[in-house]
Amino acid sequence: MLMEDIVERTLVLVKPDGVQRGLVGEVISRLERRGLRLVAAKFMQVSQELAETHYAIHKGKPFYEGLIRYITSAPVMAMVWEGPNAIAAVRQTMGSTRPTEAAPGSLRHDFALEVGRNLTHASDSVENGQKEVSLWFTPGELIAWQRDTDRWIFE
Ligand code: RTP
Ligand code: MG
Repeated sequence: MLMEDIVERTLVLVKPDGVQRGLVGEVISRLERRGLRLVAAKFMQVSQELAETHYAIHKGKPFYEGLIRYITSAPVMAMVWEGPNAIAAVRQTMGSTRPTEAAPGSLRHDFALEVGRNLTHASDSVENGQKEVSLWFTPGELIAWQRDTDRWIFE
């Protein structure tokens, strides 16, 4: 890895629509192919409390109540992924929040139409990544490991 490449961690959620539509594998496959390294994963039902903490920044916005209903409506696949510039890389793979503004080839472009059914979540900054990872996972659930292909992906 180059000195200037900082290893970042990001929380990724396959939201209830992605799980219901059988797209968990598609999301994981794209992040694996990108070269990111999986750190943690769990399939879970999101509690009201976790949803409210995770989306606290959106409290009071017109879409907040619907967002909480959406994320708690059915199970999600929660994951932590890491790699150089992981925050930007994963958000690029997901595409813009509004699927009709997402770049062709991105997940939201290829699989979604509406902002309220946009399949995934990914942390939007290094700081929020750290906060979200510790909100969703205990330290013991995070696996530090070396991948034999790392030297072929991380310069
Ligand atoms: P995310 O947090 O889920 O990765 O998505 P994001 O950063 O691209 O978008 P953010 O602004 O953080 O919004 C969080 C989620 O709220 C829903 N949303 N609905 N109806 C609306 O105008 C609206 N705006 C946002 C989306 O599900 C979005 O992913
Ligand atoms: Mg966000």
